[in-house]
Amino acid sequence: MNYDYDLIIIGAGPGGYEAAFDAAKYGKTAVVEADKVGGTCLNRGCIPTKTIMHASEIAREARESASLGVHADVDVDLDEVCDRKESVLATLRDGIEGGLKRSKVDLLRGRGFVSAPHTVVITSEDGTEETKTAKNILLATGSHPFIPPIPGADLPGVVDSTALLNLKGEVPQDLVIIGGGVIGVEFATVYHGFGSGISVIEAMDHLLPPCDKELGRSLKTAFQKNGIDVFTKSPVSRIEQKDGRLSVVYTDKNGEQEIPADIVLMAVGRRPTSEGLVAEELSHIYREKGYISVNENYQTEVEGLYAIGDLIGGIELAHVATAEGRNAVALMNGEKAPIRMETVPSCIYTVPEIAEVGLTADQAKEEGIAVITKKYAMGANGKTVLSDLGRGFIKLVAREEDHVLVGAQLFCGRATDLVGELAIAISNDLTLEDVASTVHPHPTFVEAIAEAAR
Ligand code: NAI
Repeated sequence: MNYDYDLIIIGAGPGGYEAAFDAAKYGKTAVVEADKVGGTCLNRGCIPTKTIMHASEIAREARESASLGVHADVDVDLDEVCDRKESVLATLRDGIEGGLKRSKVDLLRGRGFVSAPHTVVITSEDGTEETKTAKNILLATGSHPFIPPIPGADLPGVVDSTALLNLKGEVPQDLVIIGGGVIGVEFATVYHGFGSGISVIEAMDHLLPPCDKELGRSLKTAFQKNGIDVFTKSPVSRIEQKDGRLSVVYTDKNGEQEIPADIVLMAVGRRPTSEGLVAEELSHIYREKGYISVNENYQTEVEGLYAIGDLIGGIELAHVATAEGRNAVALMNGEKAPIRMETVPSCIYTVPEIAEVGLTADQAKEEGIAVITKKYAMGANGKTVLSDLGRGFIKLVAREEDHVLVGAQLFCGRATDLVGELAIAISNDLTLEDVASTVHPHPTFVEAIAEAAR
């Protein structure tokens, strides 16, 4: 059978475009994209959030710098912050489009739909339809914010993370965030830096429910110390309009409470973008909530149809989608998966930063692994103290029998960079002694890892 392409990828996010670069080495490749290239990560997620967070950090540091002997007046112009963010995104998008061109990957503009095995219909913005065939098809359409059916969720001023990234004009006086998950705590950090009053309302008993409990509890303490209000065990039941403002109603142990807000961010999870992606006859690839079922090779039950990233669930992060895309391409071409998926670091950009990799002590116990933990307080790390980065800790989890590292949890300045060393140590079965016996540079944040291992 002659196909137009060896591989058609639907979705040019970090899963799709990175897979395309690898796929181009094996054969003729196309990527179908209905929007701008770069997906959620580049257009509505990691990159724009961290770009405005960089501005917010500078504002916060300047405001707090008097204790270091540096005095500054801070005036945040959200319009200029947004304009700079757009120019950063445009530069990075150009880089991806240039890379696709150089790799001879066709970028097909429009919405992709798998009408039959090996067949993709692409509908462009003006409604024109084009059909292309491929030996293999890779679905990489990611996810979008989930808006739960809370009364008042559609009121003006109630926004999701995409809309909040594009907020211009005055910095909101009071921002109330529903959901103390990753998105909630990161936006709390960003807008606190800009000078908004922040309240985070979380239904579960600690922030960041899937993470190690100590991280969520430590973050609550740090937030409160910095003036961010945190309400846990407090499910939100509705949002109302009151006295020309919004009012968020939640329930705690004392009954119904309300908090006034100018802007309300809904950060209560995401859902896979899978609706209408494949024909009815192929819909057996869907499982609960619209996720797509795949086997260990990322293959669905339909011949030649693969899926990766947020669409298949699991850890929904950009670097996971990229790794899965690259593995899927290798596997569909009869090669071994190049990236090991057992050790996936995750990073949360708060003050201080949070990062995790491998198992927590509780998870190790649940898996029947006897472990020891080593905890190092960053108050003893020179670089942390001189940088005025406050308190924090590094926790290492190692197997009791041979001291092989199985996990690490970090709550400290630069945690999101430090976790890389621990990911390498864990995925290569290094012991506490291996880490401790390696000379680390001084004065650095990273030397704290060797101290923790000692
Ligand atoms: P999430 O699932 O992490 O957190 C949502 C939170 O909302 C939960 O803690 C939940 O208990 C709470 N919640 C739900 N209904 C509520 C109610 N009525 N009242 C109060 N609280 C309520 O979802 P989130 O934060 O929207 O993130 C979505 C995805 O984006 C995650 O998979 C995350 O991994 C990814 N992401 C990762 C980032 C990173 O790695 N740095 C940054 C941003 C997003």
